[in-house]
Amino acid sequence: MKPMLKTRKYTRRQLLFAVLDTVICAAVAVFASMIKFYLTGSAITAEFALCVIYALILAAGFYGGLLMFVMISRSFVIKNNRYYRAFIVAMTFAFVYHLFISIISPLLIAPGLTAMMIVMISRKKQDAFVFNFVETGMTLCVLLYESIMTEGGVSMLIDGGADAQSNLYLWLLIVISVINVGVGAFMPVALRDKTGRLYTVLMGLIVTAASVVLYVLMSLAYSDIPLVLSLFWLVVISGVTPIVISQFAVPLLEKIFNLVTDSRLMELADARRPLMRRLASEAPGTYNHSLAVANFAEMCANAIGEDPYLARAAAYYHDVGKLSNPFYFAENQAGYNPHDDILPEVSAEIVRKHTTEGYKLCKEYGVPEEVACVTVQHHGTLPMAVFYERAKRLTDGEVDIRDYSYHGTCPTNKIAAIIMICDSSEAAIRAMDHPDGERVDRLLRGIIADRIARGQFDNCSISLMDLDAIRRTIIGAYGGLFHSRIKYPGGER
Ligand SMILES: [Fe+2]
Ligand SMILES: [Fe+2]
Repeated sequence: MKPMLKTRKYTRRQLLFAVLDTVICAAVAVFASMIKFYLTGSAITAEFALCVIYALILAAGFYGGLLMFVMISRSFVIKNNRYYRAFIVAMTFAFVYHLFISIISPLLIAPGLTAMMIVMISRKKQDAFVFNFVETGMTLCVLLYESIMTEGGVSMLIDGGADAQSNLYLWLLIVISVINVGVGAFMPVALRDKTGRLYTVLMGLIVTAASVVLYVLMSLAYSDIPLVLSLFWLVVISGVTPIVISQFAVPLLEKIFNLVTDSRLMELADARRPLMRRLASEAPGTYNHSLAVANFAEMCANAIGEDPYLARAAAYYHDVGKLSNPFYFAENQAGYNPHDDILPEVSAEIVRKHTTEGYKLCKEYGVPEEVACVTVQHHGTLPMAVFYERAKRLTDGEVDIRDYSYHGTCPTNKIAAIIMICDSSEAAIRAMDHPDGERVDRLLRGIIADRIARGQFDNCSISLMDLDAIRRTIIGAYGGLFHSRIKYPGGER
């Protein structure tokens, strides 16, 4: 096995797309700022050019800075271009929303909106915090500029005293920006591993309560405390708004950018999905095998810090290609084995095809690439020992093993590697008469050593420690999946 590979950097093409996405979103932000300046009277004819220059400098600074940061320290976000695009669109959407809702009151700026949307589509806490932070800074700069361009703001800067109205506006703006950054930092940590809708709502309520407390505490520093406190109900509204908006925005982002989110993966693993229904009715043995592999794979993914939802969905779909010829696979046969009546090379061809057929079916049914790719990777380039041995017997050993091997791709990520091991392990343990800990352990060590020796993990960054954790997880779990039952008295006739 090769030493652990470093995560590959993005290509020039991926970077070009990221730059293009950034420029388009920055242009939208400039355009929205200009409309806002126009609506609030900041961009009166004499200052129009100044407003344009300011908006351009802001957009270049914030969007350019963000792109540079992502390029340097979050390169895999650019590599997964769909995600970068979705993040930056979510951030721009939140920025535009904040700009226009502030016309009613700056307190209505939904704090943590960017963070909430990004957490729901990626679960990467750093990304959500960074994008939320940049958006807050940009919103604050635009609204501060706007306020300075109005008479009250300018007089406040010049002689230190503004009218009460603009003073209050500026104060509220700074308070809500602090809350926005605070919520943006809290939300990703709180929602990292939680996907339940009720939990999201609960988090929204906690965030609202915390925002109100923070607001009340900060209002003690303001000269007219009763006036500021009378506005606290606006903070309550803006605290709940991110939950409501993200419920509409996130499914749209998922659909538009074909994202693989937790909720999408859970939907894919739903037994009522058309392809799952077909598998259950046309190849029930394969369906049950897939469920068992999914249980192993989910636990293994958890054990090595991979995405358990992706592992489960990938396991559900890994063998859908068997739908083309379900009865040529042992788990769907009831006594008669059609391979007994055909040549081993024909058998090998039929069995080999289930990987590519599975990929085609996944694409046909709109299964995302992250799940579909496992269909062609779960057998890698492994030989089909049964047919190879049979062919050797028929031809006195004159057989090329490549004609009796899978022609797929070796796993390119840890999820595909997990499915490869769980798939073989599930089938091998099921085939054992009386599986016990020692024998299962020996079997698993053999399977893993064989895959390493055949170079099946050379294209993915799975480590020996990960493989060991996977082995131990399967040993701990197989008992629950292959348990024996007490015989019913007189049950067998
Ligand atoms: Fe398979
Ligand atoms: Fe399988």
